[in-house]
Amino acid sequence: MATQYNDALDYHSRPTTGKIEIVSSKPCETQRDLSFAYTPGVAVPCLRIAADPEEAYRYTTKSNLVAVITNGTAVLGLGNIGALAGKPVMEGKAVLFKRFADVNAIDLEVSTEDPEEFIRTVRLLEASFGGINLEDIRAPDCFEIERRLSDDCSIPVFHDDQHGTAIISGAALINALDLCGKQIEGIRIVFLGAGAAAIATARFYRLLGARQENIVVCDRAGVIHADRGDDLHPAKREFALKTDIRTPEEACADADVVVGLSAPGAITASMLERMANRPIVFALANPDPEITYDEARATRPDAIIATGRSDFPNQVNNVLGFPFIFRGALDVRARSINEAMKVAAAQALARLAREDVPDSVISAYGVPSLRFGPDYLIPKPFDPRALLWIAPAIASAAMESGVARIQLDLDRYREELEARMGKGREMMRVVMNKARRAPRRVLLVNGEHEKMIRAAHQLRDEGLALPILLADPAAVAAKAREIQINCEGITVVDPAEPDLRRRCAERLLERRWRKGITRTEADELLAIPSYMGAAMLDLGEADTLVTGLRSNYADALRPMLQIIRALPDCSIAAGVFLIATRRDVLFFADASVNIDPEPDTLANIAIRTATLAQDFDVEPRIAMISFSDFGSVRHPRSEKVRQAVDLVRTRRPDLTIDGEMSASTALSEPALSNRYPNNQLRHRANVLIFPSLEAGTVASHIVQRLGDATLIGPILVGMRKAVHVLMRGAEVQDIVNLAAIGVVQALQREEGGRSAVNR
Ligand SMILES: CC(C)(COP(=O)(O)OP(=O)(O)OC[C@H]1O[C@@H](n2cnc3c(N)ncnc32)[C@H](O)[C@@H]1OP(=O)(O)O)[C@@H](O)C(=O)NCCC(=O)NCCS
Repeated sequence: MATQYNDALDYHSRPTTGKIEIVSSKPCETQRDLSFAYTPGVAVPCLRIAADPEEAYRYTTKSNLVAVITNGTAVLGLGNIGALAGKPVMEGKAVLFKRFADVNAIDLEVSTEDPEEFIRTVRLLEASFGGINLEDIRAPDCFEIERRLSDDCSIPVFHDDQHGTAIISGAALINALDLCGKQIEGIRIVFLGAGAAAIATARFYRLLGARQENIVVCDRAGVIHADRGDDLHPAKREFALKTDIRTPEEACADADVVVGLSAPGAITASMLERMANRPIVFALANPDPEITYDEARATRPDAIIATGRSDFPNQVNNVLGFPFIFRGALDVRARSINEAMKVAAAQALARLAREDVPDSVISAYGVPSLRFGPDYLIPKPFDPRALLWIAPAIASAAMESGVARIQLDLDRYREELEARMGKGREMMRVVMNKARRAPRRVLLVNGEHEKMIRAAHQLRDEGLALPILLADPAAVAAKAREIQINCEGITVVDPAEPDLRRRCAERLLERRWRKGITRTEADELLAIPSYMGAAMLDLGEADTLVTGLRSNYADALRPMLQIIRALPDCSIAAGVFLIATRRDVLFFADASVNIDPEPDTLANIAIRTATLAQDFDVEPRIAMISFSDFGSVRHPRSEKVRQAVDLVRTRRPDLTIDGEMSASTALSEPALSNRYPNNQLRHRANVLIFPSLEAGTVASHIVQRLGDATLIGPILVGMRKAVHVLMRGAEVQDIVNLAAIGVVQALQREEGGRSAVNR
């Protein structure tokens, strides 16, 4: 505990104090920049905005800026600790806005407990922001504050403590009811707690279809009923039932759902025992729930349980909502976040939970699998798809309900959201769009593997390819059943099928008889899945192939080199990593095939990689990498690289290339423009050709691990047909990416167009 305490303080104080900083989005290096950033140039947008306030969305950060505003009266479970003490929470919220949805957020701590003063202050600040996230304001003040500000402001005002929990738990409720086979209209719900989150959640469940007369809300004094003599606040009065029930225990008799938004201990085992069959228990107090997960599970093994904790299934975490809700609202310049938008968010989350979960999410949580069911009702907070599902749902609902200032094309909007998530996704989107237009047959070797089945499912679902699993159909069916994947539309080809085997053996023999193999040896080789796959591809049984999931890279690659073979022009295949950082796209080669290339091979690797970059619409600037810069160290190894540069210049004078140079020079604008002004690149390189396989793989993997980059590949270039070999540990998304790239390469070959595989 002491470590955690100190770690928390360290986190907040080092290397700089606090958690957020402001970064300028425009250059300010020259006198010219200065004159635009500030006076006199800045006057131009000022006047545009003065003439038309809507222009503020165009010329200022208003379009992507949210204020996280508190008065510190109900901070987390810490109570009224004051505005300033709440600042770390507000900064934290700003961090989450940025991390999950690229929303810029700034914290504002308003030091007043007077709701009128607070409302006035926030209202006066409205112009600066595209949205206002109210945070940690005590009930019942928060209801009035939010209502008045929402009425008065023409930007969204959203009190996350109320609606965040309501929306996320609402998504969990939709799915839990579905699993229990119950209809929301008929269920009985008990709320423990009548604070901001509880009241908002009760209202939201009503909006989802729950009947008012079936909702019992309890506060510290017991059931809120119509005859209660105490001075009930209007928000509580709204849920005052005409009933004889007085205690939470009584309320729980035959209840279908209990929602705890109160304090540890508020739900007891005896309450759960009284509930109806398959009860739904949401114990959402944090960090200690109303009843521990273990006790709830032991008491009611048939229950569906959610808590606010990350160490148990079904964490109801607001981060699944607010960043994406504001993203969608900001992008349509919404005037408010209305009920339709909130329902749309909950429904989108509920739907997303039913989708197959990507490996990246599964491995981020260190669990063997995540599959829709009682223990996986809602997506995990680090699921990158949440942005792509919720923000468009919000934008769409805002447009339909008339609160959007602008209309968006939702397909284009999804693409823009992907671009926000980094260049890698943007690049892959281009590839995927091409593949989707004319999906081709992709042969997935080791088709019985769970990852291949899931990749096939995704390829089919997204219309990217016509997947063929090469595997024993019974093994595929058993695995698909186990992982609950519907294999409809996925072809399974049995490698033991005699006619296919005979044709493949003949093809192997045809290709390899001059390498001395016999018919018997050809038959034996077919027992190795990659040989079988290569022969099938060569026979035209598929258009592209992905293999390597169950073998080491070299063993899966060799059959491709032997049967499919490299293109005849220079007989060199190479492996390229497309490396995407947030802003940059780089191509690294060779990163998977040629161990110690000679100058001639190195030159061909450079040419093939440059062609691949062009296929991705990137104009290549090739740096041939070594340890020295332009002859600074004379050594046979740097000389080899230099010779390769000369060969490329002779073979492809149209390409921009230089070297040898160090990686540091290749990626430094000042070094290229000032220190070595005569080089041909002039700008940072985007194609880096490494002198050996060690250098290529080491560089790629270090960038991936330390540089927060996405690696796509290795993309095999130079082969007669589009084949791809996976690295060990490849994930479903890697298979999907390489299959989609294979489809596009196959298409380019069909069209006779220029492609790395054709060169
Ligand atoms: C590619 C590799 C497997 C070839 O090794 P090998 O089988 O021992 O070498 P061989 O010379 O017998 O080559 C086998 C076949 O591949 C062909 N080949 C080898 N390198 C090739 C290349 N770069 N391009 C095209 N074809 C190539 C050969 O011509 C030969 O074909 P043939 O039998 O029809 O004549 C080997 O270079 C290797 O292991 N590379 C590193 C793979 C790796 O581990 N990558 C890191 C993981 S990402």
